[in-house]
Amino acid sequence: MRNLINILDLSVEELDELIAVADDILEDPDKYREVCKSKILATLFYEPSTRTRLSFESAMLSLGGQVLGFSEASSSSAAKGESVADTIAIVSGYADIIAMRHPKEGAPLVAARHARVPIINAGDGGHYHPTQTLADLLTIHHEKGRFDHLTIGLCGDLKFGRTVHSLIEAMSRYEGVKFVLISPEELKLPSFVKQEYIKDKKIPYVQSTSLDEVIGTLDILYMTRVQKERFFNEEDYVRLKDSYILTTEKMKLAREDMIVMHPLPRVNEISTAVDDDPRACYFRQTYYGKLMRMALIMKLLDLKV
Ligand code: CP
Repeated sequence: MRNLINILDLSVEELDELIAVADDILEDPDKYREVCKSKILATLFYEPSTRTRLSFESAMLSLGGQVLGFSEASSSSAAKGESVADTIAIVSGYADIIAMRHPKEGAPLVAARHARVPIINAGDGGHYHPTQTLADLLTIHHEKGRFDHLTIGLCGDLKFGRTVHSLIEAMSRYEGVKFVLISPEELKLPSFVKQEYIKDKKIPYVQSTSLDEVIGTLDILYMTRVQKERFFNEEDYVRLKDSYILTTEKMKLAREDMIVMHPLPRVNEISTAVDDDPRACYFRQTYYGKLMRMALIMKLLDLKV
């Protein structure tokens, strides 16, 4: 039985297969309308979500399957003290596959140890978010046409931004990739990502506190929100939340073919005026997320058309 806890659970070849399936779904969605008939997806979300939960549910419904689950811990028996292990053991009897989001790093791994069905990590604390990376990869595939020889700027909250951690892991496997890490001192990339996936792999990188100084060097600018929910005190969040705001003025410093990505939700870090710039990909990125989640569900359930 396969799970997706970390993006590296999928080989580069398997990612290529998922992308091919997602592209085929885009081309001919009708072909996939019954592939998950009689299958059930459980979405167990102990943290808020719009895109991830709804795109998983939309993905399963578009494959002809059904969905159940909860969207907040307070409406589940977690509020009465039930453990993740017990919850997963129970839900394994109600669903064929489980997508789970949890504020504690490692919770989906614990879930996988107690599950009798595939577990998908839909975001665990400030750790990883592998299915966002699937959305990101399909976006890069469509917008840039390659994964190699790209200079990728990651800007904002690199400390708590789980989408950043998973994306770096994924992109570190491609030749000629460079990372430009743009953050305030307090929100720098944690060493569990930087050491293993950048330094040990001898991937070139630049660290900067200034977006203006580096934006002109980038093929991709991956903006992120400062993760309010991970801060211990409000004061620090307020001081750091507007560290970077991408405006139409700043976009003038960027290359004509640079793309702007963002996992969303956006708070204030991209001005809404940037949305009209053809280089802004973040809304297209959300749709790619649904397609890749459809492909992933099929893969983990070992279903083909
Ligand atoms: N990108 C992402 O995880 O969005 P949600 O928190 O809305 O699911």
